[in-house]
Amino acid sequence: MKKKLEPLEVILGKAEFSDEEIVYLLSLSDKEDVKRLQRAAFDRTSQSVGHKVYYRGLIEVSNICTVNCRYCGIRKSNHHLSRYQMTKEEILSQAQWAAQQGFANICLQAGERHDEKFVSFICEVLEEIHACTVSSILPDGLGITLSLGDQTKHTLARWKYSSGNPNNLRYLARFETSNEKLFNFLHSACGRYEKKLDHRLLCLTHLKELGYQVGTGVMIGIPGQTLQDLCNDIRMFQKIDADMIGMGPYLMSEAADLCSMGQMPPKPLLQLTLNMIAVTRLVMHNINIAAATALDVLAPDGRIQGILHGCNVMMPNLSPQRYRAGYQLYDHKPSLKDDPTNGLTNFEKLINSTGRQIGWNQSGSSPRWLVRNGL
Ligand code: 5AD
Ligand code: SF4
Repeated sequence: MKKKLEPLEVILGKAEFSDEEIVYLLSLSDKEDVKRLQRAAFDRTSQSVGHKVYYRGLIEVSNICTVNCRYCGIRKSNHHLSRYQMTKEEILSQAQWAAQQGFANICLQAGERHDEKFVSFICEVLEEIHACTVSSILPDGLGITLSLGDQTKHTLARWKYSSGNPNNLRYLARFETSNEKLFNFLHSACGRYEKKLDHRLLCLTHLKELGYQVGTGVMIGIPGQTLQDLCNDIRMFQKIDADMIGMGPYLMSEAADLCSMGQMPPKPLLQLTLNMIAVTRLVMHNINIAAATALDVLAPDGRIQGILHGCNVMMPNLSPQRYRAGYQLYDHKPSLKDDPTNGLTNFEKLINSTGRQIGWNQSGSSPRWLVRNGL
């Protein structure tokens, strides 16, 4: 017989949760109940990582991709897209601008490539970003997050070696879903599996062994995904002992292969995503959690709601405007909102209205990583 669950208030006060409790918390939809969950997650965030929100300026370096993830609008077989690669000078100019504005960190994201030309290009970019951003305010230069897909341990080691700021080096590789069948379906093309979940998990292990701050995450609301799957995703975050999580709603892309399978309606999808963020905070405590840009597709204040539900990292888009239309992973991606020249001041006000302050010029490393490394 199923054990009867304790009242919501009692569950929310716990430090550890059973699978049944996690599934119950993820399923909440009553207005008062979700408010209680939100408050508990916000308070836990203040206790375990503080009152600051840290910026990682996002630079979408290239939309060239060698793989065909079924959900993604810039997958290799989208031949309607014109492909771009930012030059080293363009990347350095954005990085310098970010450092001058008080962003202590940037994130370099691109489609997945393994060729030597690309790998050594990233090495050069890392070396030069360090060289041109060391200052009295940032004595170790900009902190870097890489989001460049599955890579060999050798490549990850080369990038680490090229980084002049190894204590501020992060890598984001979402495992997307811990449901192996679903993962394999999402990453199969032309009758073969392009990616295997085990391989993605191995990549995360390599990152850990190399000393990166390890970020992972999932998409929420993937067709066929259940609440138990999401609960298993959280268990996987624990197993990986992730330092950072970045997760957001699955959104349809007309250019992707999953289009015909539809998408959850915006309101319940937003609530489920916010519940997932809140529960992840309650379970994982002292990690960094990023408010995904995709939240803003579901509501104009989506990312701010993310902050209210336990996020403490934000990734304003610093890609040059002319490239943004080329980096639509999903439809309706807000591309003009984060215009560095005007949108960011308003954004800071919105963040302050939640009771949080921006950690200007601070690394904002994952407290869990700092503890693990005795720093
Ligand atoms: N909806 C939401 N997120 C997406 N991503 C790619 N395509 C989509 C989509 N259609 C996310 C994946 C990937 C990250 C770079 O972007 O989770 O890891
Ligand atoms: Fe390429 Fe990343 Fe899109 Fe997959 S999610 S197709 S690796 S850009």
